[in-house]
Amino acid sequence: MEFSTNTSVSIHQVKTAALAVGIFADGVLSPAADVIDRASNGAIRAVMKTEFTGSANSTLVLRNLDGVAAQRVVLVGLGKQADYNARMHANAEKAFTSVCITARITEATSTLAAIACPGTTATDRARDAAAAASEATYHYDATFGKPNPDARPKLKKISLLVARSDSTATDLGLKQGAALGEGVSMARTLGNLPGNICTPTYLGETAKKLGREFKSIKVTVLDAKQISALGMGSFLSVSKGSDQPPRFIVLHYKGKAPAKAAAKTATGPVVLVGKGITFDSGGVSIKPAATMDEMKFDMCGAASVLGTFRALAELGLPGEVVGLIPTCENLINGSANKPGDVVKSMSGQTIEILNTDAEGRLILCDALTYAERFKPSAVIDIATLTGACVVALGGVNSGLFSKDDALAESILKAGKQAGDPAWRMPLDDEYQVQLKSNFADMANIGGQPAGAVTAACFLSRFAKAYRWAHLDIAGTAWKGGAVKGSTGRPVPLLLQFLLNQSA
Ligand code: BES
Ligand code: MN
Ligand code: ZN
Repeated sequence: MEFSTNTSVSIHQVKTAALAVGIFADGVLSPAADVIDRASNGAIRAVMKTEFTGSANSTLVLRNLDGVAAQRVVLVGLGKQADYNARMHANAEKAFTSVCITARITEATSTLAAIACPGTTATDRARDAAAAASEATYHYDATFGKPNPDARPKLKKISLLVARSDSTATDLGLKQGAALGEGVSMARTLGNLPGNICTPTYLGETAKKLGREFKSIKVTVLDAKQISALGMGSFLSVSKGSDQPPRFIVLHYKGKAPAKAAAKTATGPVVLVGKGITFDSGGVSIKPAATMDEMKFDMCGAASVLGTFRALAELGLPGEVVGLIPTCENLINGSANKPGDVVKSMSGQTIEILNTDAEGRLILCDALTYAERFKPSAVIDIATLTGACVVALGGVNSGLFSKDDALAESILKAGKQAGDPAWRMPLDDEYQVQLKSNFADMANIGGQPAGAVTAACFLSRFAKAYRWAHLDIAGTAWKGGAVKGSTGRPVPLLLQFLLNQSA
């Protein structure tokens, strides 16, 4: 997808296949809509008396208006003006993109980013517009026998019509939004690929490919022997239950200039740790069959790390970021973990495996210990960790766990800005007793109550050497049902967090 900035003053003379203009539900026309209405002798106000009310996300296509060069004028409802915010702007851009896809056109122009929106800059609005268009044009056809070319969106170019004074800020936002779109699309495709294709080896190759594409990313992929030499007995115990060999992926991004915040305080890199279970059968504590196919999405944390690195490198952000991905399958062969088994983690702490389906924490704990060597300024792990988090927060918010208030606040803020929200959950020490084991330093499950919290408590025992936060994305990383597919979350949150750090 190509994005550009247009600063033409005569909106009605812009030659384009589709021109988006915004209308508020109170009957207020955006400045662009007003220009088009006057140029066309009131064509917009005429339909507002009848079929178009400006309610949020509604659209109406007007064709071949007299006095207007655009082939189509797409009226986009913005909802009530008093309620208008960044999210509604993003949704309006998405609605417009959908109309363009349905109309099978290849290029379009939007004036929606020129509409003032509380708490946003021209850069924010352009970033949201590009990210929204990129999301709406995402298409998966990697595993169809004959991909249907007609099912592919034809839309290739979107240009934003903004005031001349906003053109530099808009260019920057478009660049950020396009990079974010690439990162989100990459994460979505990795998530959507089936477990027999997207194996630990495949994720390792994908990371290496990123390293070849971008000089700013150095990639190392460790195999079972090397993982064993590190003493990652917990991670290895999960991988042993499968014929697919495990991988431990290390990505190291270095921007040209150090991040300002990092330079000031001379602290280490941000480390992102992504859960990379390429299929989670549950192991011996096997899952029910009904929606087990969705456990191919259990590597979405890993995918979000890879997607974020792609966006980072494309933008050439200043600063240093490390990505760590422990990846394997959770399957059931003769060497698989059994309930009651005790394993030794890289930290030296032992773990009694009471449920083999609580495998995410078993692979993450060793990655968290490995993270210590980078003397990180902060570590964020991202994992489809618990069904309990889906029960608690559904598909709206990711669960955020951290004892560090400042870190938690900056992650919540980034999520809000990016339209990829998280909700802070508790992490009190009082929950830790649920992890008590009679045979090891801890058990890998804490019983039914507060399942998402005890999972985070387990991880916290391996993350004491640095500022740490945990994102449980079990409810937000993919959608089930008729729209089954990966969402690419929380790449927008993570990239925004890193953007804010470097600003
Ligand atoms: N990958 C799952 C978590 C999950 C389940 C995400 C359903 C989305 C939907 C994880 O490995 C898991 O199985 N967790 C168990 C933990 C339990 C055994 C303590 C769970 O949530 O049931
Ligand atoms: Mn599991
Ligand atoms: Zn899992």
